[in-house]
Amino acid sequence: MSDPRTAEFSDLLREDRTFPPPDSFRANAHVRDERIYAEAERDPEAFWAQFASELEWSTPWTQVLDWRPPHAKWFVGGTLNASVNCVDRHARSHRRNKAAIIWEGEPGDRRTLTYWDLYREVQQFANVLKKLGVSRGDRVALYLPLIPELAIAMLACARIGAVHSVVFGGFSSESLRDRINDAQAKLLVTADGGYRRGQIVPLKQMADEALQDTPSIRNVIIVQRGDRSMPVHVQEGRDHWYHRLMQDASPVCAPEAMDAEDMLYILYTSGTTGKPKGIVHTTGGYLTGTYATTKLVFDMKDEDVYWCTADIGWVTGHSYVVYGPLANGATVLMYEGAPDWPQKDRFWSMIEKYGVTIFYTAPTAIRAFMRWGVDWPAKHDLSTLRLIGSVGEPINPEAWVWYYRYIGGERCPVVDTWWQTETGAIMISPLPGITTTRPGSASRPFPGIKAEIKNERGETVPSGGGLLAITRPWPAMLRGIYGDPERYVRQYWNRWGHDVYVTGDGAKLDADGNFWLLGRVDDVLNVAGHRIGTMEVESALVDHPSVAEAAVVGKPHEIKGQAIAAFVTLKEGIFGTKAHVDELREHVARKIGAIAKPDDIIFTADLPKTRSGKIMRRLLRDIAEGKAIGDTTTLADASVMAKLKTQYENET
Ligand code: PRX
Repeated sequence: MSDPRTAEFSDLLREDRTFPPPDSFRANAHVRDERIYAEAERDPEAFWAQFASELEWSTPWTQVLDWRPPHAKWFVGGTLNASVNCVDRHARSHRRNKAAIIWEGEPGDRRTLTYWDLYREVQQFANVLKKLGVSRGDRVALYLPLIPELAIAMLACARIGAVHSVVFGGFSSESLRDRINDAQAKLLVTADGGYRRGQIVPLKQMADEALQDTPSIRNVIIVQRGDRSMPVHVQEGRDHWYHRLMQDASPVCAPEAMDAEDMLYILYTSGTTGKPKGIVHTTGGYLTGTYATTKLVFDMKDEDVYWCTADIGWVTGHSYVVYGPLANGATVLMYEGAPDWPQKDRFWSMIEKYGVTIFYTAPTAIRAFMRWGVDWPAKHDLSTLRLIGSVGEPINPEAWVWYYRYIGGERCPVVDTWWQTETGAIMISPLPGITTTRPGSASRPFPGIKAEIKNERGETVPSGGGLLAITRPWPAMLRGIYGDPERYVRQYWNRWGHDVYVTGDGAKLDADGNFWLLGRVDDVLNVAGHRIGTMEVESALVDHPSVAEAAVVGKPHEIKGQAIAAFVTLKEGIFGTKAHVDELREHVARKIGAIAKPDDIIFTADLPKTRSGKIMRRLLRDIAEGKAIGDTTTLADASVMAKLKTQYENET
């Protein structure tokens, strides 16, 4: 196994503190009984069907699962609409005037939308989309800040059967362009800007750049979010203001009855090639998976105020800001901006201000909070919290314990949830009423999920380390890669047979059946919880006219988990200066987005290569991680390594 972090694992396993669920939590939890695991195991399809039946369907399904590895159909023959399940159902119930979304902008402005408000606005926007020619099956790109209109636009697409493709507002114009073109989106919804650390990110300006080369886009809708000081280009005939269109739109739009297997959305994620993959999720299974996991993992109740800090541009925002919690009729808090704006207690002040009961964030944020110190949370009353969660990367035990103690007040269960864009919903996690947690372990597969550790040969390892695989289909699983059916099979289902899903993660299983996630074993990095492909960054670097060759690896970073180190060979006659480093970093930001900027760029005349010319990234990783250099016998020129190591140590 090529996992660079295996050595650290012995430390993890020394982690023997255990945290049983508090009796008071257990007494009122949705799940109080361990038998849920055995019951789900006895008949997984019946287990999932039970949750599906808690949703509203227009036509019942006739078959729970049709599994022709690696292609699954869930709830065959059933029809439903995701917006009806996330909105109408609650707007028609006692939840009509319950807050669905409580939103706070970074400058401090706030808005609350009740389920009834959401019901009207989603239908209005659905009518707007229809009027602009969007119909069932069409793709709509959404490039927005974290504002309620993003959730409204997603649900409006779902209502009319259009497929949304949300592009994170931190991605560059080029990334937006490529995603629009890959999905052949017909319409783009963007905003004049969005706030980040007091600055306005000029989204429309960035979209305009992308729009120069996106022939499929017929119309653009602009949400007014900025302070109006920014000039916004409005192209006659193509661009329209959101608020103007909404004024004339009727709040009544009948939902389309969608087949359970109709596409709900595409979300692009980084893989092992230079080109991000459009992960496809469908309607019935995805909604069932996100609904069930939100209910059980977060123990969601009607009186909760739930806050997941993820941006909606990532899968966590899709599943656990929008679809999962709204399908449960929850009150969802949304915050537009940065955690340290205007000060480092913004999150804690919001928890106090809105009486948040469930809080879900990423280890990278927790490590930043640790560094900022306990005085910031101590200034606030966090006593409404009853459950806290973590997602996106392995959480180190120190961060876990800090979170438990200083945010959870030693009374809130911590749920460390492992999953991926591809899995759609949480796969490995504690169930907070019954699981005795261990800092650093995501505990057990969710009921009905079958996860195993495999060795390279595909043999299941009963305990110990290896590669994490999922060996039974699950409702929220990806259904494909948009426009590339072969890559779907090759990438995920081809290593050990078509019925074994390859996660790309390394993990260990302990004697009590707990999974300890160790990070990616492929060329995918996880930088501050953001997934970035090394090949993507390499392609961006070699796109610069001065660069001949580039190799990118991850290195451990105290706050971000991983940081990016790039080894770059410049073209003949070009010398790397400090200014050149900055230029290349900016170039990567322009090509991909600021999240992909390398931390270190090392210029070198030679990269370590095998005799056949293959760059040995493994050895570069050893350098970036400050480890002893591994086996160099296959190198064409072994002296390259010693030189590079000294250079790296001197320059970083
Ligand atoms: O390596 C795993 C890590 O994040 C990857 C998935 O990234 P993405 O598709 O962007 O989705 C992130 C949010 C679900 C995984 O392959 N990962 C996610 N959650 C955890 C994790 N690693 C360890 N522990 C977790 N709880």
